[in-house]
Amino acid sequence: MAESAVRFVTLEEKYIQPAADMIRGAFPDMPDEDNFTEPDFYEMLEIFPEGTFIALDGDKVVGVATGIFVDIDLDELPRREDSLTRTNGRTNHRDEGDYYYAVDIVVDEKCRGLGIGRSLYDLRKALVVSRAKKGIVAAGVIPGYSKFLKEFGPTEYVRKVVAGELQDPTLSAQLANGFGVESVRKDFFEDPETDSCCTIIHWRNPDYVQPPRPRGNKSSVDLTNSNRVVRLTEASVRLTN
Ligand SMILES: CC(C)(COP(=O)(O)OP(=O)(O)OC[C@H]1O[C@@H](n2cnc3c(N)ncnc32)[C@H](O)[C@@H]1OP(=O)(O)O)[C@@H](O)C(=O)NCCC(=O)NCCS
Repeated sequence: MAESAVRFVTLEEKYIQPAADMIRGAFPDMPDEDNFTEPDFYEMLEIFPEGTFIALDGDKVVGVATGIFVDIDLDELPRREDSLTRTNGRTNHRDEGDYYYAVDIVVDEKCRGLGIGRSLYDLRKALVVSRAKKGIVAAGVIPGYSKFLKEFGPTEYVRKVVAGELQDPTLSAQLANGFGVESVRKDFFEDPETDSCCTIIHWRNPDYVQPPRPRGNKSSVDLTNSNRVVRLTEASVRLTN
């Protein structure tokens, strides 16, 4: 299949079943709550279809990338991914969420290495930039670690992949797409192949600008700023002269 034959669309109902099947097929040993399944896609269709990207070869789904906007404190991540992504069976998506949390990305096995994954990452990045979000956060599988489980720990494995000493089918692709590794986690989600080890990866939106603080309590905030205190003092001196 030529890469030029592939086109990209956002979520539509007719792509839900093949996209869910593709995710299940890529992660057969993971429990459903650790990935997007049909009910999540139907919810996304209702509230955030523009956050899911589908790669099509003709009418055939050959890639899918899902995600939601959520508030994330990278220093205070929950113990498990599903508490970040879901509450009471609904996703935690909020239009105002400060990060795009990337839940799944899968390219059809027969079509890997052709640039489809890169295009899906680029579409996510474009969404994040256009919505002025802080960036993209994801928990990444490290399938290559399964071969080294007995040799060294997951942090050492990740260090070797980041240093280019080893290649990981997933982490190397994420690094090639501008992601950095924030931390290495165990039991964030279930992945029997790698003793449930994963990375937390992060792509920063280069255009992100911290919004100004709300104006409501501004005077108290300004008084803690020493430059402003000096200026206020000078002004009050001038006024009393
Ligand atoms: C990860 C995945 C989505 C990448 O999709 P893809 O279409 O094969 O990736 P691309 O062809 O766009 O490659 C993107 C970059 O990653 C690199 N890359 C891709 N696969 C790689 C591999 N196995 N080893 C090393 N680098 C790899 C490519 O070299 C490319 O970089 P370049 O453009 O600088 O050459 C795909 O391999 C996949 O579906 N994997 C299984 C599911 C999965 O693990 N998803 C991630 C969940 S966290």
